[in-house]
Amino acid sequence: MSPKVVLITGCSSGIGKDLAARLSQNEYTVVATARNLATVTNLPAALKLSLDVTDNQSIATAVHEVIERFGRIDVLINNAGYAVRSTVEEVPETQIHQMFDVNVFGVIRMVRAVVPFMRKAGSGQIINISSVAGKMVIPISGPYCASKFALEALSDALRLELAAFGISVVIVEPGNIRTNFMKTVQANSEKIIANPETPYGDLYKNYHLFNDKSRLKEPGPEAVSAIIQKALETSKPKVRYRAAVPLMNRLLSCLNDRLKDRVVKSAFKIKSLG
Ligand SMILES: NC(=O)c1ccc[n+]([C@@H]2O[C@H](COP(=O)([O-])OP(=O)(O)OC[C@H]3O[C@@H](n4cnc5c(N)ncnc54)[C@H](OP(=O)(O)O)[C@@H]3O)[C@@H](O)[C@H]2O)c1
Repeated sequence: MSPKVVLITGCSSGIGKDLAARLSQNEYTVVATARNLATVTNLPAALKLSLDVTDNQSIATAVHEVIERFGRIDVLINNAGYAVRSTVEEVPETQIHQMFDVNVFGVIRMVRAVVPFMRKAGSGQIINISSVAGKMVIPISGPYCASKFALEALSDALRLELAAFGISVVIVEPGNIRTNFMKTVQANSEKIIANPETPYGDLYKNYHLFNDKSRLKEPGPEAVSAIIQKALETSKPKVRYRAAVPLMNRLLSCLNDRLKDRVVKSAFKIKSLG
């Protein structure tokens, strides 16, 4: 059988870039896409295309090019995504819209563009890069968690809806991974968090302490790429793969809501009034 044609979004850095390189080295036909083509010049992929997941025209052009060149897309990996961090009350609405446009609507647009070709082929696989934040909420991350919870729900629906067409859906939930992710978080959130008038000053300070500590031992993107390759090469992939999720998070997700709140409140030094 000829090598699988794998289209990946967000290959300019981090997980997408590492995954594109890994799969190319393992004889997949990789279509590495990025908003800015210059960011993928050195990637060893079969085809590099410009693709912005918020732009239907850019998606249609890229998908058309892949079909023209290879005749099919076997695997779609929805990796593009980012986070804005601050309290629910303080994140500007436009920033939430923009983040959902990438993390949620971007995936919907990609699915709508690619699934018709998979359906015609009678086979295909979609891998959605969610997050541990798609399963568990901490303060300062509400809107980002909401976007990944939405992605989890969409993935669960897609898995059921597409099964009859031979298309499988896999969710990958990474923990903290060393990529450009935090740089983007800082760029997007710095102004909100640094506002001297914020009523959440203490919470932001404790968030920084918590974040610095929890990100100390984060692995590189290869921890996620390796798991994605495993999912691609297993005859019966799991519905969900956790990637580099610390034991503490795994245990926390088993607790009931009140207990979970107590642990998180203690980590963020939140004292309830009354
Ligand atoms: N790193 C972590 O700790 C972590 C943990 C859990 C889940 N994740 C998830 O993993 C995925 C990859 O993130 P990463 O850690 O590899 O971070 P990253 O290095 O910042 O990569 C994010 C990628 O998304 C792309 N992107 C953003 N907006 C886009 C758009 N409109 N169209 C196309 N691409 C766009 C970025 O492209 P530009 O360079 O053009 O901005 C970049 O290639 C994301 O979905 C993220 O939510 C990351």
